[in-house]
Amino acid sequence: MTTLQVSGQQKSQETLAEHAELRIAMDRLRVIAGASMDVIPADRLQILLGHDLNEFALRVQAHFSSEERGCYLGIEGSPELSGRLGVLRSQHEGLRVRLRGLLEEIEATPPRVDFGDRLVGLLNDLFHHERSENEVLQESMLRDTGRGA
Ligand SMILES: [Fe+2]
Ligand SMILES: [Fe+2]
Repeated sequence: MTTLQVSGQQKSQETLAEHAELRIAMDRLRVIAGASMDVIPADRLQILLGHDLNEFALRVQAHFSSEERGCYLGIEGSPELSGRLGVLRSQHEGLRVRLRGLLEEIEATPPRVDFGDRLVGLLNDLFHHERSENEVLQESMLRDTGRGA
């Protein structure tokens, strides 16, 4: 096993751990996104969502940057997975744009009635993205184990 393979496998393990943390952050934001304006007035909901969405956006940006640094997800030399890896990597920009758009909107104005639904829609798409990455990571690790690496 080369040093390059070790660092790739370490990165894959770290990515899986980050996904578990991100999942908790997504659950937290999902709860806040579902908060009713009957319970929390719009001006206070704006502050709450603005604060939490800003923290979440920073976390996601750092996570995407980490995945994109070097070889994507730490998976190297795997032509059979390269197509799926390319698709997943290409999804980052669209998710970044949507996240930035929601953040700018909530920082500028109290949440419109459909804001929570649009935020949940983004969280759902991000969840599917992360779950697909987990599947590719697990397949890659199984292949490495099968090769006796
Ligand atoms: Fe990703
Ligand atoms: Fe990820």
